[in-house]
Amino acid sequence: MEYILAPSILAADFMRLGEQIEAVGKAGAQYVHYDVMDGIYVPSISFGLPVLKSVRKGTDLFLDCHLMIMDPDRYIDEFVECGADSITVHVEACRDTGVGSTLEHIRRSGAKCGITLNPGTPVSAIEPYLGMVDMVLVMSVEPGFGGQKLLNSTYAKLAELRELKRLGGYGFDIEVDGGVTKDNLAELVRAGVNVIVSGSSIFKGDIEANVKDFFEIIKENTK
Ligand code: DX5
Ligand code: ZN
Repeated sequence: MEYILAPSILAADFMRLGEQIEAVGKAGAQYVHYDVMDGIYVPSISFGLPVLKSVRKGTDLFLDCHLMIMDPDRYIDEFVECGADSITVHVEACRDTGVGSTLEHIRRSGAKCGITLNPGTPVSAIEPYLGMVDMVLVMSVEPGFGGQKLLNSTYAKLAELRELKRLGGYGFDIEVDGGVTKDNLAELVRAGVNVIVSGSSIFKGDIEANVKDFFEIIKENTK
């Protein structure tokens, strides 16, 4: 299994964004996790299409777009035009066209598609879509802000999802997002996560050293 690190640039210094993306890539991270917040689906507002376009021009890293926005179907084509390699949506947010049709739209646009499980959302809510997605994103905090503490309920969710993946013979990646640190990474990897999002724990301090430490922990726990 390939283990992927997806630094969330929500925690980056935006005055030095290009430099910091280059640093995570140089140290081995394969994805850039791009958190879009609309102030409606989640209380906060982050960044959107024009920033994505600039990031796309500046990096070859895979751009993993996490849309925390209401009715995301409206924006899929534009996100892909601006450089998104994958688009992940929240089940609760797909009110206009429905979840299945939003996922089909993402796939038609040529991007990879993902679905998200919020801490309060039962795994059964995404079960019908497991055969359609490239990735399931398990939120380990309430979506909306970086720098929160990982919720312990995440491990039970991961176990349940992993079992469904095994039973159904599915090939989707399992991504975890929120409060991932060097201290809980080992347990998350052992719980079946293979795409790891981290904001504060990567961008605070020495970025390249943090990325290398993350990979070292992954290596130690996947032998
Ligand atoms: C939260 C975002 C996360 C966040 C993670 O709503 O989806 O991607 O940036 O940041 P940390 O690792 O600081 O919790
Ligand atoms: Zn995210």
